[in-house]
Amino acid sequence: MLQKVVRSTVIDAPIERVWEVLRDFNSHDQWHDVVAASRIENGEASSQVGCVRNFTLKDGNHIREQLLTLSDTEYKSTYCIVEATVPLQRYVATVTLKPVTDGDRTFWHWESTFATPPGMERELRDMVAQGVYEAGFENLRRHLDAGVAARTRPTEHTTQPVGRVREATPAIPSREVRLTRYGGAEELETVDATAPAPQPGEVRIRQRAIGVNYFDIYLRRGWIPGLLPLPGVLGMEAAGTVIDVGEGTGGLLPGDRVAYLCPEPGAYRSVRTLPARHVLRLPQGVDEETAAALLLKGLTADYLLRDLGHVDKGTRLLVHAAAGGVGSLVCAWARHLGATVVGTVSSEAKARIARDRGCDHVIVARDYRFADAVRAHCGGADVIVDGLGVAAVDENLAAADRRCHWISLGQASGPLPPLDADRLVMKSMTFSRPVVFDFVATPAELQERAGRVWAALAAGVLPRPAPELFALAAAGQAHQRLESRESTGALVLVA
Ligand SMILES: NC(=O)c1ccc[n+]([C@@H]2O[C@H](COP(=O)([O-])OP(=O)(O)OC[C@H]3O[C@@H](n4cnc5c(N)ncnc54)[C@H](OP(=O)(O)O)[C@@H]3O)[C@@H](O)[C@H]2O)c1
Repeated sequence: MLQKVVRSTVIDAPIERVWEVLRDFNSHDQWHDVVAASRIENGEASSQVGCVRNFTLKDGNHIREQLLTLSDTEYKSTYCIVEATVPLQRYVATVTLKPVTDGDRTFWHWESTFATPPGMERELRDMVAQGVYEAGFENLRRHLDAGVAARTRPTEHTTQPVGRVREATPAIPSREVRLTRYGGAEELETVDATAPAPQPGEVRIRQRAIGVNYFDIYLRRGWIPGLLPLPGVLGMEAAGTVIDVGEGTGGLLPGDRVAYLCPEPGAYRSVRTLPARHVLRLPQGVDEETAAALLLKGLTADYLLRDLGHVDKGTRLLVHAAAGGVGSLVCAWARHLGATVVGTVSSEAKARIARDRGCDHVIVARDYRFADAVRAHCGGADVIVDGLGVAAVDENLAAADRRCHWISLGQASGPLPPLDADRLVMKSMTFSRPVVFDFVATPAELQERAGRVWAALAAGVLPRPAPELFALAAAGQAHQRLESRESTGALVLVA
């Protein structure tokens, strides 16, 4: 006969706070006392329906559970045991949250059905009801309180150098992709490491998804050694869940789902401690993989189009690598703004993607010869978004119309040589050499720009990314893929 266990409680925290923790299928080792370790198998995201989490319990038992449903609108998830060393059979559980209307509190309902071997019904019912559910209620309360304490008791913390959360968790294990010698993708090596407890102004994040950017390749090759002394860890952006916080972290709390971009590299790791000023809470509906695929590239598209290109109706915009990570976002957003978008790509397959992303005209040219075609399509470019570098210099100058603004944001084909300013005077051109971090230099600016990116995603202006996923340990393969000119859209490492 199937057993049924039902428990419920009220948590003194808003439903969004409680749901941020519970929706993360891989968070229990951060708050539930019975769980010693949790990991998601096969590098899948913890919000991916079908993913399997692998628990090691403090009593030595192991349980593998699969996420069956996850609804951010109903605040509800269902999961089942697929394998366990405890004799719970056909176990299916549902977690449901409801807002409590008087006060900003949350009603939490947890129920399950399961079968047991004969004679063990009562023992296993008690274990689930008390050991898992009732203990879980108390553990989550404590977890949320610890976050509030870390945020709201600065005077207490000035006499005690670290907050409650940090005292409980000093340096914790992490995996990182380390570079000990500049060079090719084969130089990337995955090793064990630790992430220190957060100091004042810092936050420690369990990272789920890490954005791969062409900039990482420049650093790996040793083009900017001052920014990445060796041994070093690459990576400028990631998304995950806050483990704990230091003092003065602007309201971030353990359990918050967050993303960041940080001007100091170091994102290719499973746990990272970094300054909280670079970190944003993720809105509902933006999962970690989407954030890692979109944040740095979307912010780049925002400043390129708004601040530098002043792109609007009728602007003739030339976008190189139009099916790439940044390029495809720039094309989609520019098309929405009413620009005439001309894209360059290196293959017919990429041309189809670029058209789909919003290019009015696509030029297929692997040899960087595009200027004649640009002039034929639109008479010349008003703005050029150029991540190509050395191989495209002469053609960019030829493709430009009078008063064109040439934005050189990257150098995938090789470093840009010094530019003779007299080459610009022939068409009264202007030139910029921007870096995204200067356009999100303050938390307020970061919030504002990110807000536009999430809004553009929600409105369908930006396509929902479908990033190519690689395990963290396969970072070298991700680099090879990006350098091969075969990739389209974004690449993301899953920790
Ligand atoms: N300054 C900033 O703030 C900022 C921020 C983000 C990105 N960026 C720059 O924007 C550019 C795009 O970055 P991303 O991460 O989105 O990369 P991506 O565009 O997805 O990949 C690079 C693309 O560059 C093209 N490419 C042309 N010649 C190449 C070569 N010799 N080797 C490799 N690729 C070549 C390829 O597209 P085709 O084969 O279709 O030509 C390739 O797919 C990069 O230059 C990057 O440095 C700058």
